[in-house]
Amino acid sequence: MTVAIIGGTGLTRLKGLEITHREVVHTPYGEPSGPITHGVLHGREVLFLARHGYGHTIPPHKVNYRANLWALKHLQVEHVVAVAAVGGINEAMGPGTIVLPDQIIDYTWSRHHTFFENDLTHVTHVDFTYPYDHALRQRMIQAAGAADAGAVIDGTYGATQGPRLETAAEIQRLRRDGCDLVGMTGMPEAALARELELAYAACAVVANWAAGLHSEEITMADIERNLVRGMERVRAVLGALIPTL
Ligand code: HPA
Repeated sequence: MTVAIIGGTGLTRLKGLEITHREVVHTPYGEPSGPITHGVLHGREVLFLARHGYGHTIPPHKVNYRANLWALKHLQVEHVVAVAAVGGINEAMGPGTIVLPDQIIDYTWSRHHTFFENDLTHVTHVDFTYPYDHALRQRMIQAAGAADAGAVIDGTYGATQGPRLETAAEIQRLRRDGCDLVGMTGMPEAALARELELAYAACAVVANWAAGLHSEEITMADIERNLVRGMERVRAVLGALIPTL
């Protein structure tokens, strides 16, 4: 079973991946964020794609989520582990923490969010009650435990449009809604994966406290510093996870 890792901000390269080749995939939905990297990690074949491009130039609202997921499906991928930087809203989810969310609230707009819109033989509504794949999540929870990553194993991910960060009032609204985390790339990625019947789960890395919670201003320098710490933990989780897939 082939596994793909979609790397977000702070993970444009997968340390330890012995790269065999890169593959350009053209899709009916346009071009993915870059060529798909094929390689071996912890003895397993792994595909890697940097969500924002290998040069980190594609902002969250411009990512071609449909092309990225279609390309992975085309390459026979079955499991997708999505790594994503987020802001922490829940007090237990401070900078540097790894969170394996189990729910999503979608606040994004105007993104291509479905494969099911043209040339349909029937209208399709995928079940999305539990947006992340249960079995893959369980394996990630076990891997996080084995890696001693101090991960929080559930939480609700609020997906915002970006690319700007939120206002303090928006974060209070997200908190009232029940969001524990806020990020800009979780949707429509998760829903598109479900439409393609890919087993998809997310590993979120808290880069900063969400707006207005613990500081006057959120700087890219703070985000980058926390992500370096968090990504070491992500690598440890992947190291425990990959051999089990
Ligand atoms: N908000 C939205 N997306 C993010 C944040 C944030 O505070 N930090 C990292 N990605």
